[in-house]
Amino acid sequence: MDWGMRNRLSQLIKEDGHCFFMPIDHGYFQGPTRCLEEPGETIKPLLPYCDALFVTRGVLRSAIGPANSKPIILRVSGGTSMAGKDLANEGLTTSIEEIIRLNATAVGVSVFVGSDYEQQTLLNLAKLVNECENYGIPVMAVTAVGKELEKRDARYLALACRIAAELGARVVKTYWCKEGFEKVVKGCPVPVVMAGGPKCETEREVFEFVYDGMQRGAIGINLGRNVWQARHPAAMAKALQAIIHKKADVKKACEIFNEAKI
Ligand code: 5RP
Repeated sequence: MDWGMRNRLSQLIKEDGHCFFMPIDHGYFQGPTRCLEEPGETIKPLLPYCDALFVTRGVLRSAIGPANSKPIILRVSGGTSMAGKDLANEGLTTSIEEIIRLNATAVGVSVFVGSDYEQQTLLNLAKLVNECENYGIPVMAVTAVGKELEKRDARYLALACRIAAELGARVVKTYWCKEGFEKVVKGCPVPVVMAGGPKCETEREVFEFVYDGMQRGAIGINLGRNVWQARHPAAMAKALQAIIHKKADVKKACEIFNEAKI
C-alpha cells in the first residue's frame, strides 16, 4: 500500500485500530433533517470526541471551517430524495478533481445490493475505486437499504459487505444486527464500521449495540442521529468515544454519559 493511502487511513483509523466517524450527510436525500438544520453548530460540541466527519461538499464548504478541521470523508453519491421514487437510484456526484481540491481524506459511496439499482450502484463504487486508488484516496462503501430497514439481517449484510470489499472498498460501513453480526465481519476482508440508523429509544440501547458490535469485530462506528438527535449529544459522543477508544463497557458508558450530561 502506498504512503498516501496508508497516511489517509491512519488519519481515520486510530492507533488502537478503532474509529468514530460522525455522519452529517443526511441532507443529501432528506433535506434539513432534525437537529442538522445548521450542521456547523450541531457538530461544534461533538468534534472533540469524533475522528472524522462524513459530509457532502455543499455542507463542507458552507459550514465547516477549513483550518484545523477533522479528517473529511466526502459523501460522493446521491441524486435521489425522500420525495422521489427510489432512494437506490444513485449516481456519483463529485469528480475526482473536486475530491482532491477539497483535500478529502476518504470518500463514501452507497451501494444498494438487491435493489433495482444494484448494478448501477455497484458500478458507481467500482468506478470510484478506479479513480481514487490512483491518488491514494480510500473509498468507504455504505451498504444502504433505503426505506427497507427490514433487510438488515446477517445474510443480507454479509452479502452486501463482501461484494463491496471485493469491488475495492477499503472500509465498509454496514448495520449492526443481533444475530450473526460476527459472520458479517468475518466474511468481509476489509474493516467494518457500524452505521446507526433511526434513533433508538434509550441511550443504553445505543451503547449496547455499539459495545456488542465492537466485541464481534467491528472497528468502529459511523453514528449520526443517535448522537446529534439525542437529548444530550455531547454526553452521548463522550460515552461512545469511551467504548470505541477507551475499552469502556455498557455500564461504564452509562456512567460517563450520566456524569457528562449534568
Ligand atoms: C445515509 C448515511 C448516513 O451517513 C448514515 O445514515 C449514518 O447516519 P445515522 O447514524 O443517522 O443512520 O450513510 O445512507
